[in-house]
Amino acid sequence: MQIAVLKERRPGEARVAATPDTVKKLVALGATVTIEAGAGAGSSIPDARYKDAGATIAPDAASALKDADVVFKVQRPLRDGAVNELALMKKGAALISALGALQNKDDVAAYAAAGITAFAMELVPRITRAQSMDILSSQANLAGYRAVLEATHIYGRVLPMMMTAAGTVAPARVFIMGVGVAGLQAIATARRLGAIVSATDVRPATKEQVESLGAKFVMVDDDETKQAETSGGYAREMSDEYKRKQAALIAETITKQDIVITTALIPGRKAPVLVSEEMVRTMKPGSVIVDLAVEAGGNCPLSKPDEIVDVGGVKIAGYTNLPSRIAEDASALYSKNLLAFLTPLIDKETKALKIDAADEIVAGTLVTQGGQIVHPSLKAGA
Ligand code: NAI
Repeated sequence: MQIAVLKERRPGEARVAATPDTVKKLVALGATVTIEAGAGAGSSIPDARYKDAGATIAPDAASALKDADVVFKVQRPLRDGAVNELALMKKGAALISALGALQNKDDVAAYAAAGITAFAMELVPRITRAQSMDILSSQANLAGYRAVLEATHIYGRVLPMMMTAAGTVAPARVFIMGVGVAGLQAIATARRLGAIVSATDVRPATKEQVESLGAKFVMVDDDETKQAETSGGYAREMSDEYKRKQAALIAETITKQDIVITTALIPGRKAPVLVSEEMVRTMKPGSVIVDLAVEAGGNCPLSKPDEIVDVGGVKIAGYTNLPSRIAEDASALYSKNLLAFLTPLIDKETKALKIDAADEIVAGTLVTQGGQIVHPSLKAGA
């Protein structure tokens, strides 16, 4: 089985889908690994380290993909421009990558038309057995950490309380909205930096988690919150009445904050608007909002992808790819996720791919196979 790892070509993407560590393990599983030259550069991994780990270096995407049975990527393949990555893949090859499959339906149709067996890693089910394969968790954790650091750079003051001969500096107030994987890491990071941290979520289960990290929990407490969590652990979209109550509580809380990090997402839907323009205008000049939901429409309607917008002195940052700003660690964890995903798909005797469509993890992630769209959420009429 030949595995190809491409250089990521989408703008702003510094990560790579394999590291020398995972290459070694893939080789030990009986695979041959081809890395496109320069693939690791954004993550400070020179080609020589891949070579030492047992990989072959291919000069370009075409030669890396020519005979590849499995293609590892971070971002979905390009379908136009100077290098049409999809067109270079051989028919029947398995593509294992974050695909944003539910949002990019034209791409999914193109994978089917090209005869690609495509696995969407963002759809890995959240079951215990799949924890080591969960790219959303591994990357969101890093994004939450980095969001706080980005905010501290934009913020013109310090986070911890400082008592100096020249005077005392008050600690910053940091408010985290949405306490999933990213939000929890943002709380922990802001606490480590000495800020006074509070947080909110619609899922009541988050209260204990927030408090165990030493932050204050702010939440609308009514009957609806009991049903706010799906069986998969995600949030539901809340009623208009709940949203009104939540907005009033947030409005009151937000005027007192110096830094607000928003991470609230609802799978497959537009992100909920939590910080309105009116609320932003009640914040002190110099305050900072980092909107991690910007790609899903934003938790603040004023945020713009990859820009820092100034609204009356309040700076709103909308970074779309924070994990790429800590590419070395992000690549290491992402690569481990792909290794953990592929390992059970390799037949121990033949060392070839053996895809069991009945397996819960395969069924959850497989989007196209044999020229067809096969995922239940993507099939015609779904
Ligand atoms: P996410 O990225 O989908 O959403 C982030 C957070 O925003 C969630 O906590 C969500 O409740 C919150 N949110 C949504 N709408 C909101 C609103 N209107 N106001 C305030 N907050 C709102 O979530 P993520 O980080 O993917 O985690 C979702 C759940 O999955 C968590 O319970 C997490 O612990 C769990 N999880 C389970 C795993 C496993 O069992 N293998 C692995 C990773 C996460």
